Amino acid sequence: MVIRLWIGICALFVGATSWSPVWAGGEDAAPTQTGIMQRGRLVYVLRCAECHGRDGRGDGRAAAFMTPRPRDFTTGAFKIRSTASGELPTDKDLFRTVTRGMPGTRMPAWDFLPAADRLAVVAYLKTFSPAFAKSAPPSPMAEGRPIRMTEGSVARGRALYDELKCGDCHGAEGRGDGTSSHVLVDEWGHSIRPADLTRPWTFRGGADAGNIYLRLTTGMNGSPMPAFADAVPEADRRRLANFIRSLAREPSAEELRQGEDAIWAARYVAARSRPTPLRRVLPVAAGLATLGLEIAILRVLKSRRTMALTTPR
Ligand code: HEC
Ligand code: HEC
Repeated sequence: MVIRLWIGICALFVGATSWSPVWAGGEDAAPTQTGIMQRGRLVYVLRCAECHGRDGRGDGRAAAFMTPRPRDFTTGAFKIRSTASGELPTDKDLFRTVTRGMPGTRMPAWDFLPAADRLAVVAYLKTFSPAFAKSAPPSPMAEGRPIRMTEGSVARGRALYDELKCGDCHGAEGRGDGTSSHVLVDEWGHSIRPADLTRPWTFRGGADAGNIYLRLTTGMNGSPMPAFADAVPEADRRRLANFIRSLAREPSAEELRQGEDAIWAARYVAARSRPTPLRRVLPVAAGLATLGLEIAILRVLKSRRTMALTTPR
């Protein structure tokens, strides 16, 4: 019985590792550099070119109907990075953005594509900008540790928000309605609105503490959103992030039902009600522990000594 179970598990493992959606059907099993590029190009033409354009210039047929416009990959400017202001993103940054999409925009989450396809399309889209080939691979900035979201840290964050004049763009209450909110233009000459900080489901790079901190630290290349890595010490950037999280409200029923961002609002709500990995593992662990205990009790009951004690002489 145990042996059969093991054979089953081994067969499953071998099956899972030899099945690869990207390289399946290819002559050689190992993904070669050319294989990856060919696959990346195919994924790009099928899934991305309509918006980002065949040559990656952000001028696909659907582009003009969108605000913000699809990214022009030839400029090498990317908003969602773990790297310093003005630098290229890491492969991991790009992979993450492709997987999660950009909330509040028409850039979809491609999490339904096999991971190998997402990796391949990231490798391919980097070929549109010569910057990736020219410079050394970018390295992420040190991340440090988050600060607990206490009343004190939020109050300090609020003070910094006023001091740093974030409100000029984002508005005194963070509703994206500051005095200069209507005159901002991005690097590509299109008008752009500052984020409404009370609607975290529209944050391009995600609404968790870590991502908010990274956007404040690294800025968003191509957009007027500045980087504060030099102007503000790390701990204060953490406190600012805590203050921004304190501004978050829930999407209304109306916002969940209709409007351009309804899909992002729904995903935001769903992501937070999903059980954490620990909560998923706990019931299984409890089940296994109970089973173990039952087996142990059965063993004791069946043991010879107990048998001897209970069988009548
Ligand atoms: C329906 C249109 C649409 C499609 C299809 C689409 N994108 Fe986008 N993409 C966008 C828009 C719009 C933006 C810009 C959002 C912004 O600037 O806030 C964007 C931005 C990006 C960015 C820039 C991220 C950053 O940090 O600035 C990357 C990378 C990207 N898309 C990759 C892809 C890939 C890969 C595919 C295909 C698998 C794809 N996109 C398909 C609309 C699209
Ligand atoms: C010059 C105007 C300007 C100033 C000053 C500014 N921002 Fe922004 N901010 C923007 C714009 C524009 C965006 C939207 C960027 C985009 O969508 O590409 C943005 C986006 C954001 C986001 C959303 C990030 C995301 O993932 O989409 C946060 C959070 C934020 N800003 C916080 C701040 C804080 C905190 C300050 C002050 C320390 C600040 N901003 C100062 C213009 C500004």
